[in-house]
Amino acid sequence: MRLTYTSDVWWKNAVVYCLDVETFKDGNGDGVGDFRGLTQQIDYLAGLGVTCLWLMPFFPTPNKDDGYDITDFYSIDPRLGTLGDFVEFMRTAHDRGLRVIADLVVNHTSDQHPWFKESRSSKNSPLRDWYVWSDKPEPDDPSKVVFPDKEDSLWEWDNRSKQYYLHSFYKHQPDLNVANPEVRDEITRVLGFWMELGLSGFRVDAVPFLIENVDPKLPDPHEFLQDMRAFMTRRKGGSILLGEVNVPYPELVKYFGDGLGDQVTMCFDFISMQKAWLSLARQDAGPLADALRERPKPPKDGQWAMFLRNHDELTLDKLTDEERQEVFDAFGPEKDMQIFGRGLRRRLPTMLGGDLRHVKMAYSLLFSLPGTPVIFYGEEIGMGENLAEEGRLAVRVPMQWTPDGGFSQADPVREMPEGSFAPDRVNVADQKRDTASLLRWFQLLIERYRECPELAWGTYTVLDAGHHAVFAHRCDADGASVVVVHNLCDTAVDAELKLPGLEGHQLTDLLVDGTLDVSDDATVKLPLGPHGCRWLRASPPQIAPEDAGVMSQ
Ligand code: GLC
Repeated sequence: MRLTYTSDVWWKNAVVYCLDVETFKDGNGDGVGDFRGLTQQIDYLAGLGVTCLWLMPFFPTPNKDDGYDITDFYSIDPRLGTLGDFVEFMRTAHDRGLRVIADLVVNHTSDQHPWFKESRSSKNSPLRDWYVWSDKPEPDDPSKVVFPDKEDSLWEWDNRSKQYYLHSFYKHQPDLNVANPEVRDEITRVLGFWMELGLSGFRVDAVPFLIENVDPKLPDPHEFLQDMRAFMTRRKGGSILLGEVNVPYPELVKYFGDGLGDQVTMCFDFISMQKAWLSLARQDAGPLADALRERPKPPKDGQWAMFLRNHDELTLDKLTDEERQEVFDAFGPEKDMQIFGRGLRRRLPTMLGGDLRHVKMAYSLLFSLPGTPVIFYGEEIGMGENLAEEGRLAVRVPMQWTPDGGFSQADPVREMPEGSFAPDRVNVADQKRDTASLLRWFQLLIERYRECPELAWGTYTVLDAGHHAVFAHRCDADGASVVVVHNLCDTAVDAELKLPGLEGHQLTDLLVDGTLDVSDDATVKLPLGPHGCRWLRASPPQIAPEDAGVMSQ
């Protein structure tokens, strides 16, 4: 594939790294991460090979939902720095070839936002209609409450102005009313502001809530997403929207803008993420294979964003009750590990019992799945969670840089884990020196992923590997093919693949070493160790293996 093309549509095989400025690196010694600290770590991120940073909310906030409750969309949380620090950070990131996107949280504001204070001041407030008000707490459906540990209704009574207001999330997060053109205009200004400061796009929080929970119902709620995307493209071609859209596939394609692809550029693939966990729990490739076979094709230039963990709970809401229980039993059996009745507040390595071979296989799988991988800070060194922290904050612990923590000289904003996932056991400094470390494995996976654009761009086919524990797929683009095989179980197995069209080809291992021959009847047999994984590039017999490798070798 031509690099001039894949780099133009940069998001389609980007490697996205999500971080929270607050917990990444403290630059001024007050215990809270900040832009100055983050800026000093840009070379680390560039060295890891990621291509795009996704910053969790960094705006002024009362911090009742870790910054997802904003009081000013045009400024920086003073604990994290100033606009000046932000611009210095952006410049340095760009200097090292990194793009930056940020969370766009406009489904709601904090109840401390001046807009809401004004709106609730009276029924006649000029900003009354910026939020969703009603005389009756209806329609209400307690099953739609997102945080059932704290809320039991979508409406809250406002004693001052004698009406109820809608809140899809916590009651301190009143929903903005995007049916109001003034609100839509203001959101557009917010986009424009941060794009002027260099952002390449936004991770859009809670997209279905944003366009559906409005008053009056918009005749075509998706028009708003179209307008946002069109505005961004006018201002800066190649800027993207990465949508948090956790709905079933048939509904999801609408958020891409169906075949037109004029709405959200990329959607997180919550479905295959959940099925991947079910597959890991069962040591059976079936659920993941079925999901990927069913998954609709995104429109041209659209892409799926792939992930295994993020900053929220590992939501298993799209599994059946029995399936969810299987994942709970395997990876989070204790009540304290579970949250909202639907998820786990754990990081991946602890769920896999700290078994490095298993963890490496899981991430090899993630980077090879068709789409754009998104990782959460600390995944690259195998950080664990701290269940002593409240709710979802358990997974948002400070980044572990050195054996003594290295995040801050003061007491950190949140406690790091103890025991086998404490910083003296899991940290960047040690793993940089250890060629067998997870960090080095991530670097290799990222390098190979970038060298194999077929994985993200190609037509993929999920293969039958002759063993239920083996997940195998091939990706073909522009006459080139990459074949990837993962053994989900902890015993050695033999896989056998049929690779039509690759008769007599040689398969060169891109991760370790060696070659395999595809027989004249298009069959290849490959032994896989416990949790073994192989990425193989096919080349016609007339090309010597050393030339057949990755494009830039
Ligand atoms: C999204 C975010 C989550 C936040 C919620 C409300 O789901 O991922 O962290 O609490 O929106 O903004």
